Amino acid sequence: MSGVNITSVLQETRKFPPAKEFSATAHVKSEAEYDELWWKAKDDPTGFWGSMSQNLDWFEPFDTVLEGEMPNTKWFVGGRLNASYNCVDRHLKTWRKNKAAIIWEGEPGDTRVLTYQDLHRETCKFANVLKSLGVQSGDRVTIYMPLVPEIIVAMLACARIGAVHSIIFGGFSADAVAERNNDAQAKVVITADGGWRRGKEVELKHAVDESLEKSHTVQQVVVLRRTGTPITMVPGRDHWWHDLMAEASPDCEAASLDSEHPLFILYTSGSTGKPKGVLHSTAGYTLGTMMTSKWVFDLNDTDTYWCTADVGWITGHSYVCYGPLANGATVMMYEGAPNWPHDGRFWEIIEKYKVTIFYTAPTAIRSFIRWGDEWPNKHDLTSLRLLGSVGEPINPEAWMWYHKVIGGERCPIVDTWWQTETGSIMISPLPGATTTKPGSCTRPLPGVVPDIVSKEGESLPDNTGGLLVMRQPWPSMLRTLYNDHERFLKTYFSEIPGCYFAGDGARRDEDGCYWVMGRVDDVLNVSGHRLSTMEVESALVSHPLVAEAAVVGFPHEIKGEGICCFVTLTTGDGDDALKQQLKDHVRKQIGALASPDMIRFSNALPKTRSGKIMRRLLRDIAAGRERVQDTTTLEDYGVLAKLRASEE
Ligand code: PRX
Repeated sequence: MSGVNITSVLQETRKFPPAKEFSATAHVKSEAEYDELWWKAKDDPTGFWGSMSQNLDWFEPFDTVLEGEMPNTKWFVGGRLNASYNCVDRHLKTWRKNKAAIIWEGEPGDTRVLTYQDLHRETCKFANVLKSLGVQSGDRVTIYMPLVPEIIVAMLACARIGAVHSIIFGGFSADAVAERNNDAQAKVVITADGGWRRGKEVELKHAVDESLEKSHTVQQVVVLRRTGTPITMVPGRDHWWHDLMAEASPDCEAASLDSEHPLFILYTSGSTGKPKGVLHSTAGYTLGTMMTSKWVFDLNDTDTYWCTADVGWITGHSYVCYGPLANGATVMMYEGAPNWPHDGRFWEIIEKYKVTIFYTAPTAIRSFIRWGDEWPNKHDLTSLRLLGSVGEPINPEAWMWYHKVIGGERCPIVDTWWQTETGSIMISPLPGATTTKPGSCTRPLPGVVPDIVSKEGESLPDNTGGLLVMRQPWPSMLRTLYNDHERFLKTYFSEIPGCYFAGDGARRDEDGCYWVMGRVDDVLNVSGHRLSTMEVESALVSHPLVAEAAVVGFPHEIKGEGICCFVTLTTGDGDDALKQQLKDHVRKQIGALASPDMIRFSNALPKTRSGKIMRRLLRDIAAGRERVQDTTTLEDYGVLAKLRASEE
């Protein structure tokens, strides 16, 4: 961890209490109701979660709610259940059988609706397809697909037979896919010929073909036909989705799985080393996402709920798939970009489907602001009743714009703080109960006990910046990092003994509201997605002309953080052509989301006498700040002036 020196400069005093009409029908109706729930959960976590667990359907009841202490906890010990059953089958016994589970629109404008009954049939068939390919309970299956209903079918089919899915976002490159396949030792890859993004095709199958040259555990590939583009099918290895489905039986009983059976692995970036395979369990994760969807999004059967995240990220796992479906909600999905074929596509979709709940990221909101109010103003957005934000701190001005222009000053905004590791939302307003403040994710959900501590682990007083930790375990927390329990212990539980350390800096104000200030480690948050500086550095250094590289974030108007790379070459001075070459190189190694915004050549980097790169100095230079930091440990003072001169 780099030095913790957190000064909060944000002074925001506007407050927005929930509207009476909203509270009247909300699942949690008042601050008092919230307080009661929260204290119940804090004082008697096992009693609280034991009673909440009755919201799931169990094949076998559990004996013990919680066994062990953080970090090694087991929830609902001895119980047996199935996540796919909880998301689909149980609704078939109710009137929801013919309710729309998924309303989908592709980027080109094609549309589909799957009822819960449809989703059940497709899931069962695809579960049988997986079985026919030799997939067994516990096997890892990689999913690398566009945002089409079949990605949900694939996830639920894995869950149905106890296979562990590992979804890789479609924006990652072939090399990134190979690395994740190898780490998970994936047996099968599910992909598509391609997907649509901004009118262009994302060539997924080509990337899979390339990745399989480097990942040898994969035996079978299933390919969905989405774009119709010509691709190569390798006989014996590659199969068309529609061919296999045509043969598959629609009967497949959901496997009875242990509460702690792994549900999925999702790779996320850390400050050091390769991506971390965050592993989530069946019962705790399903319960966490189900309850938080209900509390935070106040889901009702009349809602059309739209979370714009790609299913390849945790937000899509928890709040496109598992959480809303466990509640029997109607989920809107849109395949493509918000600005295709025009900058008002999202607002057009909201009007067309009468979306009631809209959940997106601050980076998207900042783009909407830039594109202009005329786009949302062209559409009737009065169906909306609730707005959400996730992925990074939302700046108060973006919050106010969201509130006014999209929410018509009518919709509560839930700013939800959580992480891939936490599985479900941890700190967020409850829309019928909490007074919101622009820029604050407000208060912890029931069962969540956060604190702000110093580096030494001491609780800090209100309005003092420090490290955000969790003092009590919660059901949907990650169980381990796949194949690397040591790293799991070290990353999350060694900094502050007895606590889960989130890696974020934050403060709590006098009302008990949390203000998250961002990461305190070397993790970038680019467009709400975590990227490790170290991964970008190793991608750069793998280029033959790069001797050394240091990567830092800098404030970026749309993306939140941009990527600035300081590069020392093995030979020559570097020019614009080489900058472009290096940007392309990083894209190829990691994917477009890691593409550097700025490359600066320098013949030396600022280092301490022991050879550690002084990133805080580089951060100032990247941000164009002249502020003179403490440079007493710097080995060569001249290097700073040279770096400042190395402009993009
Ligand atoms: O720094 C926090 C930021 O995103 C990190 C988690 O990233 P990831 O695992 O990719 O999950 C993103 C979606 C849940 C956190 O450590 N973050 C996420 N939501 C917020 C946030 N920062 C401030 N406010 C938020 N609402």
